[in-house]
Amino acid sequence: MLDTLGNLERTHTCGELRESDVGKQVVLMGWVAKKRDFGVFTFIDLRDRGGLTQVVVSEETAKEAHVKAKNLRGEFVLAVRGEVVSRADGTHNSKLATGDIEVKVGEILVLNEAKVPPFQLEVAGTENLASEDTRLKYRYLDLRRPRLQHNILTRAKAVARIREYMDERGFIEIETPILLKSTPEGARDFIVPSRIHTGKFFALPQSPQILKQITMIAGFDKYYQIARCFRDEDLRADRQPEFTQLDVEMSFANAEMVYRVMEGVFGHVFKLINVDLPEQWPRMTYAEAMRRYGSDKPDLRFEMELQDLSGELTDTDFSPFAEVLGKGGEIKAVVVKGKADYSRKVLDELQEFVKRYGASGLAWIKLGDETTSSLLKVLGLGTIERLASTAKAEKGDAILMVAGKKSVVAAALGALRNEIGKRENSIDRSAYRTLIVTEFPMFEHDEDTDRYTAAHHPFTSPMDEDLELFKQAVENDAEHHLLGQVRAKAYDAVINGYECAGGSIRIHQKEIQALNFKALGMSIEKAREQFGFFLDALEYGTPPHGGFAAGIERTCMILCGTENIRDVMAFPKTASAQDLMMDSPGEIDGAQLGELGIKVND
Ligand code: AMO
Repeated sequence: MLDTLGNLERTHTCGELRESDVGKQVVLMGWVAKKRDFGVFTFIDLRDRGGLTQVVVSEETAKEAHVKAKNLRGEFVLAVRGEVVSRADGTHNSKLATGDIEVKVGEILVLNEAKVPPFQLEVAGTENLASEDTRLKYRYLDLRRPRLQHNILTRAKAVARIREYMDERGFIEIETPILLKSTPEGARDFIVPSRIHTGKFFALPQSPQILKQITMIAGFDKYYQIARCFRDEDLRADRQPEFTQLDVEMSFANAEMVYRVMEGVFGHVFKLINVDLPEQWPRMTYAEAMRRYGSDKPDLRFEMELQDLSGELTDTDFSPFAEVLGKGGEIKAVVVKGKADYSRKVLDELQEFVKRYGASGLAWIKLGDETTSSLLKVLGLGTIERLASTAKAEKGDAILMVAGKKSVVAAALGALRNEIGKRENSIDRSAYRTLIVTEFPMFEHDEDTDRYTAAHHPFTSPMDEDLELFKQAVENDAEHHLLGQVRAKAYDAVINGYECAGGSIRIHQKEIQALNFKALGMSIEKAREQFGFFLDALEYGTPPHGGFAAGIERTCMILCGTENIRDVMAFPKTASAQDLMMDSPGEIDGAQLGELGIKVND
């Protein structure tokens, strides 16, 4: 009789048994996913990482087990021993991999009991799921759900494939420290106080950027790392404060050589879900992506390109438009096919949506049986019809327009395009559309301070074609604004509208690096204080080099078909950067603070 675990071993997982196993004596171990009591028969769905198996206990043939089965509840942990029997009699369950069989139980051993879980684990779909906060608090239970088990397993397999690909091509994995000094990715640092050096602090790496470049100076030639990164920044659906990158750097490499590695490694990883990404991805410059899609990470699974209507309105008397154009702004639109019947309510919602991106409003034209427009009175039917024709709209379509500064028009219409793509189901969910976006601007202009900051990071090289412009802008105060036109050897890899990777060819000459610090308004002293060790290193024979980093979570989001980054992390933080299971960040006691020489303000 089965009354202790002893040296009992499982013979199979709960996802393994098939018709061909009928007749075998087996031992399964797992959790009670569901119990159905039919009097003389009790059915149990037994679950483990491998899947679900239906187990049946009969009062007639296994009296003792049947008594035990009556008292089982969800999430009890069991070992069962029994015989595999066929369900070919017509009761088979085609939704289950093991649905052709069931295990007729002889004996049950309860390995552990379980409290009633605070939420129901087995629910179909996502609508009836408990709140995410509850699930994050009891993450160990949430993780038992097959969907999350699948995601975490997919992530592990993806990382294994990455290592396989990189190792085979001569990249070597080098670990870099977590206790570091501030790194230059532009977010806030997470800080760790030093006890031994009271009043001094480590910073956690925002990425291993400088260290991977130093591995090139140190002669390692091809580096990679599955690297943990920490950024204290505002969170979004695809951002976490702590995340993982495939971090890569290559010596003697030009951009095309880096693209080949990006294409290759993503291609290898996507085979995991039986998707063949193109061997060579399409390229698009940043300027073209912004012009056509209002985004540097366009989702190419649907069309709906932005249409420029500025040219049609150059002589307009309508003062809001005239003013926008006079200041160098734009009036652009998206055409929504077949949506001339958009209601007032929907148009109001879309207007509120674009306002979140800084747009002052959303003008519309509807080409229904009759042409109607929020601009009919101010522009007149003739102009409205010309605008519709320039936008390449047809009868039955709706045209949604935003006027404003170029950056606002792009942000608002780029986001609106994605929103409408989702609302109208225009996105082909079975497609995987890749893109390498090139020629990013080297600098971003901060209007509040009138300063230029590094769009990527301060070690990114300007494009050879723009080197003269760059020098001219740095060396000549009056031409500082030209920095806004300098393009960098920086690129992103985009899949289905997600920025999955970013990188650049680096500056390897110290003169250009010095110019770049100057462009960023950083004195040599300040630069030395922050990156002195790196500037020194650059002087000892730095090979030309470049690389990229790919977001593991974002890649896994696409592999697993989820829009929530927490679905591909075992222990993620909430949108307000907390761990609800461990209740962190938490307070530390006075003695610990004292040792660190830290006082916390009330
Ligand atoms: P970058 O900052 O573009 O480049 O980051 C590279 C990739 O990492 C992912 N990523 C994130 N994923 C989740 N949460 C976040 N908060 C987050 N931030 C970034 C994205 C992004 O494309 N050192 C450079 C790389 C280089 O130049 O080689 C860097 O870190 O997928």
